[in-house]
Amino acid sequence: MHRDSYYTPKILSDKLVSYINKKSVRFVADFCVGDGELLRSASDKWKNVKCYGTDISQTAIDETFSKHPNWVLEAVDFLDDSSQKKSKVLSGQKKYDLILLNPPFSYIGGVSNEVVFESVTYKVSTAMKFLTESLRYLTPDGFIYAILPSSTAYSQKDRKLWLVLEKRFNLSILEEPNSNYFKGATPNIILISINDFSCISKNRQLSKISFKIPPVKILRGKLSMNLLPSLVGEYYLVHTTNIKNQSLFNLSIKVNHDTSKVIGPAILLSRVGNPKSMKICLIDSSETYVLSDCLLAIQTKNQKDASNLFRYFIDNLDLLSSLYKGTGARYITIDRLKYFLDLDIKTNHCALFSTLDSIEDSINEVALI
Ligand SMILES: C[S@@+](CC[C@H](N)C(=O)[O-])C[C@H]1O[C@@H](n2cnc3c(N)ncnc32)[C@H](O)[C@@H]1O
Repeated sequence: MHRDSYYTPKILSDKLVSYINKKSVRFVADFCVGDGELLRSASDKWKNVKCYGTDISQTAIDETFSKHPNWVLEAVDFLDDSSQKKSKVLSGQKKYDLILLNPPFSYIGGVSNEVVFESVTYKVSTAMKFLTESLRYLTPDGFIYAILPSSTAYSQKDRKLWLVLEKRFNLSILEEPNSNYFKGATPNIILISINDFSCISKNRQLSKISFKIPPVKILRGKLSMNLLPSLVGEYYLVHTTNIKNQSLFNLSIKVNHDTSKVIGPAILLSRVGNPKSMKICLIDSSETYVLSDCLLAIQTKNQKDASNLFRYFIDNLDLLSSLYKGTGARYITIDRLKYFLDLDIKTNHCALFSTLDSIEDSINEVALI
């Protein structure tokens, strides 16, 4: 890959490195080094650190080497075992006390990689494969700090291994930045650390709740309130202001809008703001509404499932609330809602979620069971 907008921006690279609480680092490595921004941030922080990097692109390696002739750089396909074995940076029992990563995002979605961790084989995303493979090259008290797509934490695809790494290596989310750091692309990203037991994950409490979620379909309202004057139709429009005391009230506008239509049984809740128990409601199977773009609906197969799920929402409001993030208005994404709904499910309906892993907010209908 040639220099492009997807290399790590300096501001983000410095931010990641600013989290690292180590007085000295001897050997730092980046296994998808690109043009070396992460290593530059490390060199700025620890003046005597020795830098190592690999990248699949010989051009990237040549260009970065021309800027940093004292770095040890090599073209390696880090996802390929035989390429790793031939590498000098990765062989000879070489271990690093700091590994920095911003693995390629372009593989997000479709691609599945196999990774073996502690004799168990997992099918994971590319970013998760980079992260797990890197552990082989870490000293026992070394740290990995990385910038990853947020689907690594929230998608069904990576969930199993994420939970294992969370327990074994204190895999922690340091931050979920809101700003769009990558020009021309808008990936949701997280900054994470591995093996740094001084970090307390913002997500730690998420692994604790266990509930057998029934099959669901998630819908996101698409109707903007600005379009209302031009619409008339047969179904009541529901906006956040229409949910009060766990019921719908004051419905007055009728519209037609197929992609925002929800048929009960379902749970309705606000996508933005601070989730409150009184602002979540249950609609039954005889009801059909159109949702404004501030609302989400979780449809279930039957009324009993909807009632149980409604109870789950109310009982776990703190957890739900922790998934509404944002520096301005707080909001929940489809990925995070899936995370909330998916915990500890091991049945095969999860596979249907994983095909749509990273599409997130651009989709209206997320999972059909
Ligand atoms: C997001 S950039 C990383 C930028 C870099 N960490 C920095 O500090 O600027 C991703 C890099 O991964 C490299 N890459 C993609 N697939 C790879 C693979 N299989 N093995 C090693 N590097 C790979 C790309 O060539 C690209 O340079």
